[in-house]
Amino acid sequence: MITRDFFLFLSKSSILNRLARNWGSSVATGKIIGGKDFEASIPIIKELNEQGLTVTVDHLGEFVDSREVARERTQECIRAIQLIAQEQLNSHVSLKMTSLGLDIDLDLDLVRDNMTSILECAEQHKVMVTIDMEDEVRCQKTLDLFKEFRQKYEYVSTVLQAYLYRTEQDLEELNPYNPFFRLVKGAYKESPQVAFPDKKDVDENYKKLIKKQLLSGHYTAIATHDDKMIDYTKEIAKEHQIGKDRFEFQMLYGMRSKTQLELVKEGYNMRVYLPYGDDWYGYFMRRLAERPANIAFAFKGMTKK
Ligand code: FDA
Repeated sequence: MITRDFFLFLSKSSILNRLARNWGSSVATGKIIGGKDFEASIPIIKELNEQGLTVTVDHLGEFVDSREVARERTQECIRAIQLIAQEQLNSHVSLKMTSLGLDIDLDLDLVRDNMTSILECAEQHKVMVTIDMEDEVRCQKTLDLFKEFRQKYEYVSTVLQAYLYRTEQDLEELNPYNPFFRLVKGAYKESPQVAFPDKKDVDENYKKLIKKQLLSGHYTAIATHDDKMIDYTKEIAKEHQIGKDRFEFQMLYGMRSKTQLELVKEGYNMRVYLPYGDDWYGYFMRRLAERPANIAFAFKGMTKK
C-alpha cells in the first residue's frame, strides 16, 4: 500500500522536482494550483474574491540553494504584493523561509535581508505576509525571525503546527507579540521525538490550540479541511461569544470548494491558499501524502462537498 511516508519521501527528491518542472505544471494547473505565474493567477483570484472568498497566494519554490535564486524568489514576492495592490485583489501572500535563503546563510543575514525587503513593500501596500512553517528543524529559526520582524512590522504572520509537542508553549511565548497565527495540523514527516505520532493526539492538540488562540483575543486562522475542527471552532466561538470577525477558516485551493462557499454563506471569513508557479512537485506530493483521494477527486472535479 502507498503510504503517507512514501509520498513525503518523494516530496524531498530534488531530482524528481527538477524532472517535474521540466515536464510542466499543466497536470495541476487550475485544479489545485493557480497559473504558471502570478499574472495567469489573477483571473482565478478575482473569481474567488467575487464569490466572497479571500486568498493567500504562494509562489511555489523548493530546494533553493543559491543566493541568486533566493533573491529571485524575493523579487517575485515583492511583485506579487505590488500586483495585489495594483489589481485591488483581496489577497495575502504566503512564503517559505527556505525559498528566501534560510538554509544558505547560517547567520541568517540573507533571509533577514530578503524578508525585510518584502515586509517593507507589504507595509507600504498593507498586504499581510504569512511565513509558512516547514519541518521541525527549521521551526526555532523561523519563530526567532518572526519575533524579530513582528517587533518592527504589522503585516507579518506565521503558522503553528499542532503535531509538534513544542507548539503549545510556542503559542504562549509568542502571545506578547500580538500574533496573527495560522493554525494547522502539520504536513511534514517528523520523528516521535518531536511530534505526536498518533493522529488522535494531533487532533486533540489542534483543538487545544484553537481554543487557546481564540480566547487570547488575537485574530486567528484555522486552516483545515476537517469538519470536526471546523465545528469545534464554531462551538467555541459561540460559547465564548467570539465574533466571526475575530477569526477565519482557510483551505487549499481545489479542496472542498463547496464547503468553502457554504462557510461564506454562513457569514464566516474563508481564505483560499492558492499556490502558483512551475515548481509544483513538492506541494503536490505533500497533498498526496495527506489524502491521495484529494488529487484523484481534484482531477475529476468531484472533491467531497
Ligand atoms: P486531515 O488530513 O487531518 O483530515 C481529517 C479529515 O478531514 C479527513 O478524514 C476528511 O474527512 C476531511 N478532509 C481532509 N481533507 C479533505 C478534502 N480535501 N476533502 C474532503 N475532506 C477532507 N502545513 C504545514 O506544515 N505548514 C504550513 O504552513 C501549512 N499551511 C497550510 C495552509 C492551509 C490554508 C491549509 C489548509 C493547510 C496548510 N498546511 C500546512 C497543511 C496542514 O498541516 C495539513 O497537513 C492539511 O491541512 C491536512 O490536514 P486537515 O486538518 O486538513 O485534515
